[in-house]
Amino acid sequence: MRNLKQDIKHILDEGKINMPVEVYGWVKTFRNDRFIVINDGSTLQNLQLVIEPEDYDEAFLKKISTGAAVRAKGELVESLGKGQDVEVQVKELEVLGEADPETYPIQPKKHSLEFLREKAHLRPRTTLFGAIMRVRSSLAFAVHEYFRKHGFLYVNTPIITGIDAEGAGQMFRVTTLDPLNVPLDEEGNPDYKKDFFGKKTNLTVSGQLEAETYAMALGKVYTFGPTFRAENSNTTRHLAEFWMIEPEVAFMDLDGDMDLAEDFVKYIIDFVMKNNAEDLAWLEKRLLDEEKRLPQNQRSELALRDKLQFVLDNHFVRISYTEAIEILKNSKPAKKKKFQYPPQWGMDLQTEHERYLVEKHFKSPVIVYDYPADIKAFYMRMNDDGKTVRAMDVLFPGVGEIIGGSQREERLDVLLEKMEKMGISKEELWWYVDLRRYGTAFHSGFGLGFERIVQFVTGMGNIRDVIPYPRYPKSAEF
Ligand code: 4AD
Ligand code: MG
Repeated sequence: MRNLKQDIKHILDEGKINMPVEVYGWVKTFRNDRFIVINDGSTLQNLQLVIEPEDYDEAFLKKISTGAAVRAKGELVESLGKGQDVEVQVKELEVLGEADPETYPIQPKKHSLEFLREKAHLRPRTTLFGAIMRVRSSLAFAVHEYFRKHGFLYVNTPIITGIDAEGAGQMFRVTTLDPLNVPLDEEGNPDYKKDFFGKKTNLTVSGQLEAETYAMALGKVYTFGPTFRAENSNTTRHLAEFWMIEPEVAFMDLDGDMDLAEDFVKYIIDFVMKNNAEDLAWLEKRLLDEEKRLPQNQRSELALRDKLQFVLDNHFVRISYTEAIEILKNSKPAKKKKFQYPPQWGMDLQTEHERYLVEKHFKSPVIVYDYPADIKAFYMRMNDDGKTVRAMDVLFPGVGEIIGGSQREERLDVLLEKMEKMGISKEELWWYVDLRRYGTAFHSGFGLGFERIVQFVTGMGNIRDVIPYPRYPKSAEF
């Protein structure tokens, strides 16, 4: 049986010379019939196994190739070669599973990200995807650690929801009705009473509304789960299935919400900088190499880790939507008519605007707050001006909007009026409205798109490369 403590990370961190080791892993390279480099995912670092070719016959040696799974027993020794301090002098070697070199797609050379997306079941074998997934895992852990330290309760909101519309996006229907034989009601519409739940159900676009009910009892809660949006967005920042972290806090206003968002994001970035230094160093070098091919003016101004440190060291700029529009109107690209969408009050900020504010004007993460009521969801708290709501978006360089949040409308009459105006059913959301009937109070929360922060921290250009199996239009392989 495998000793779960003895992975490559442990051996490299704590191993002593002459120590007996037993390691398992997948072959990265095999050369001179003597040097087998393996990795087991526990760390970016590989481990070199050294065999005596005379100990094995040719047929056996042929089984050792890139991608094969092996087990080796031997002794940890100082390495004479360069590139590693220690290696394993192998006494016993077993090939657990071969990988036919004629067909195994992950060869020791650079593969394009597009190619690897088609081999998503094997791409975690690459150094790049190992690094991304270790960073992703650390970020998830840091999320839980942050909230635990701050007294938040982790609540699990439903994935299948009876909510049909809340303004966050198109939903995926969940049904067990036979598409070729849908029962109809008297009016000829699908009869959802006959469906599994006896009503229309969807995959959730956000856990917020249910999280609010728990915040209004337990004070500080957060969700961290999958969310689904059926928009036809084929961009480098959108997925049809993504993970979202949504804290919700009773008795907290929008200023508190912005403070929480900033503190939280800095905490998880700092955590990864401390705990995934090797992975980040490698990802940084990869980016530098990639960018060498670009003209000078298209290269990043900061290396990956400097960019992360910059976020930690600086206060996020906070400006109102109205101020943001003024800045954009007076900007060079606006004057030269370079924006595809000329900025004007009332429009939603487009990616080009967000990028200008963050990357050109402020050169810093920016929080934009108090958006026009008409372009935001029904539940956001109306300001006294009657035109704007207490919404905030956190904008980051490269990825744009990373967090969206708001102070929630806690006044029953104002909420009902807004729902009416926006065509949100108060019958369907009776329980949400109830919160404003019984012990209502001001409260706020936000949603962090988990893949967007993984993208930012790893420097990956496409969101499809920071989740194991990306879901997007016309793609649900695996
Ligand atoms: O701004 P959004 O739509 O906000 C909400 O869903 C609120 N209910 C959150 C809350 O207040 N509790 O989404 C929040 C974040 C965005 O800022 C973005 O980072 C991410 O979720 N996001 C997506 N990430 C990947 N693919 C998509 N299609 C995304 N849509 C939103
Ligand atoms: Mg948003």
